[in-house]
Amino acid sequence: MADETNSLTVWDELTSPLNLVLIGVIVYLIYKIIKSNFESEANVPPPPPPLPKLRKDLTVAELKKYDGTQPDGRVLLAVNGIIFDVTRGKRFYGPGGPYSAFAGKDATRGLATGQVAASENDEYDDVSDLGSDEIASAKEWEEQFREKYDIVGRLLKLGETPKNYSDDESEDKKSQ
Ligand code: HEM
Repeated sequence: MADETNSLTVWDELTSPLNLVLIGVIVYLIYKIIKSNFESEANVPPPPPPLPKLRKDLTVAELKKYDGTQPDGRVLLAVNGIIFDVTRGKRFYGPGGPYSAFAGKDATRGLATGQVAASENDEYDDVSDLGSDEIASAKEWEEQFREKYDIVGRLLKLGETPKNYSDDESEDKKSQ
């Protein structure tokens, strides 16, 4: 009997005019929050589809055009003779980015010496004058790039011929 009286009291409390108004306000606010979440998601433009994979050896001169200013926005850079597709890191290397000096360039010397500048020279830089600490630093950068970015191919020295990557993709991976 006492229980019944208690539950009736709770029901009476809930249905009091003030509580009904408060419940209405809460439901309305929840509705507004959910609606605004949906709207902000809808306003974010979808990321552009990833570019098709590029597999190609390039000379220093050929690498130059991949500095992110082309219509497809692809950005490549080379470290220790390996060309990486760093388009995913466009906020670093793209036009106006803090490391745009490396875009379309052989970044080995800059990364090894800690200078955000790449040589404008069209010839392959063999970095043979660098010290062992600098060489080690460039190697660390290379490892970091290997983990994060796709390999495009090798940076060609004068007289070297590009490899045909359509022949055997798995063999190419082994040799790099
Ligand atoms: C005051 C000195 C520097 C500061 C505060 C700084 C800071 C940063 C920060 C915050 C990032 C972003 C990291 C991330 O979000 O993953 C970054 C990325 C990077 N930094 Fe620096 N940096 C400095 C100097 C340098 C120097 C001297 C070099 C080479 C010459 C360099 C090369 C890079 C590169 C290549 C990336 C992009 C790495 C990637 O693609 O993931 N930075 N830096």
